Amino acid sequence: MKQYAVAMSGIEKYFGPVHAVSNASFNLISGEIHSLIGENGAGKSTMMKLLYGMYPIDDGSISIDGETMGPLTPKIAIEHGIGMVHQEFMLVNELTVMENIILGFEPRKGPLIDFVKAREKIREYIEKYNMDVQINKRINQISVGESQRVEIIKILSRGANTIILDEPTGVLTPQEARKLFEILRNLKAAGKSIIFISHKLNEVMDISDRITVMRHSNVIETVNKQDTNARELSKMMVGREVFLNIKRTQAKIGDPVLTVDNLWTSGEKELSKIRGISFNVRAGEIVGVAGVDGNGQSEMVEAITGLREVERGAITLAGVNITNRSTRFIRKAGLTHIPEDRNTRGLNRMASVADNLVVNRIYNKPFSKFGFIIDRKAINSYSEELIQKYDVRPPKAEMLTTHFSGGNAQKVVVAREVAESTKLLIASQPSRGIDVGAIESIRTILQEVKSRGIGVLLVSVELEEVLSLSDRIVVLSEGNIVGILPVEEANEENLGMMMLSGGGAS
Ligand SMILES: Nc1ncnc2c1ncn2[C@@H]1O[C@H](COP(=O)(O)OP(=O)(O)OP(=O)(O)O)[C@@H](O)[C@H]1O
Ligand SMILES: [Mg+2]
Repeated sequence: MKQYAVAMSGIEKYFGPVHAVSNASFNLISGEIHSLIGENGAGKSTMMKLLYGMYPIDDGSISIDGETMGPLTPKIAIEHGIGMVHQEFMLVNELTVMENIILGFEPRKGPLIDFVKAREKIREYIEKYNMDVQINKRINQISVGESQRVEIIKILSRGANTIILDEPTGVLTPQEARKLFEILRNLKAAGKSIIFISHKLNEVMDISDRITVMRHSNVIETVNKQDTNARELSKMMVGREVFLNIKRTQAKIGDPVLTVDNLWTSGEKELSKIRGISFNVRAGEIVGVAGVDGNGQSEMVEAITGLREVERGAITLAGVNITNRSTRFIRKAGLTHIPEDRNTRGLNRMASVADNLVVNRIYNKPFSKFGFIIDRKAINSYSEELIQKYDVRPPKAEMLTTHFSGGNAQKVVVAREVAESTKLLIASQPSRGIDVGAIESIRTILQEVKSRGIGVLLVSVELEEVLSLSDRIVVLSEGNIVGILPVEEANEENLGMMMLSGGGAS
């Protein structure tokens, strides 16, 4: 019999009335890379949190390296070699890489922390797995990709043999994702076992040995990579064929709703300072912004939405000067925004779906009478309509958003921002973390938005997404616009070349 690094069988988990995991079994062979895929809310994160001991199982059994486990806690799981990198990182921003890694597990020399030994150990991992990490930098000085590598080292230094990564590439650029894959392959070569959760089927087909599909809290099937393909996987996930290449519709193009004129703004990094860009978005069109992540996309969006100071230049929204105005003023002038980081900016996680959906309009009709008598019935029926349309699961308007799966929380933000959009909608990485079925529906919805005569500014690191949705494409490189072209003239090759051309050209 094969030795399983992990064997979970007959697992049950309820959260109150929600049946999150139902009679699910999952085996991890020692030394394999095993992907776990499935729709938003299918139960992937929960299944892995059960293995990591974050919640108790309601029924079933878990064994690690052949040993049947009693009730698990993270401490016990770690002692048995399980490590997990969560969807949201758990590093302390103000501490250095090294301090974060040894936090709570300091190697001691008498009463003192043995920094020399700690440093040596970390260097060993960096070298062995080829991880490009600067150990003396603070977390807030390094990129997301590097933070993720720090999380991996942290887990390794606690003795992990089985490494769980929950949607690690959702926050990575394609370049960083490739780097991560190289590390995963090195870990595998060193005998580690890896569980990889992802919605990106091309990645899954690239990295996995085996793939397990979950749907509606059940494990549907485990297959060998060689015996399947991306199309079949997406069908297993959502139970039907998915067509991501939706037909681009043509809407009536109107006047500019957004005009950015010679915009200058500061940047998180040298590369991301915006250096005098000009472009517009007209009513009824989708303008896509293509660029390698970190070339000013976030800074540009922050300047337009009132979150970053404009140093020079002017921004006009449907005839109103919004340069350096408050986010509130700008929103009132007609701008809505699906932010790239939904957890810090998009949602109040401790409020219900309904409250999140009406938060900006709760004192307006029809949600309030006379501006202060709140009409719960109106709020609920409005929420239920949006929950239906966006397929938010479970369809419970009163549930706190913190209890929703990552992708379903994202749908709540999209629903609110689309419903409230009047002049311009900025969609930053709108399909980050959502399953293929939901990506298809969000793409269709963005087309509907433009046919309502609204302008859409789409920022995405997925070139494929930019190409399939945009009418025009703005290419950003090192904070400069290096080209604006109609979609008919754009393809992955010429966009890729322009993206890497540097800012000097403009
Ligand atoms: N702490 C919690 N309290 C209540 N319900 C929860 C909790 N955590 C998860 N759930 C519910 O359990 C179900 C499975 O969620 P889970 O996070 O495992 O999904 P997922 O497959 O990881 O989805 P995604 O791809 O969107 O991240 C969902 O219906 C979710 O709402
Ligand atoms: Mg999840």
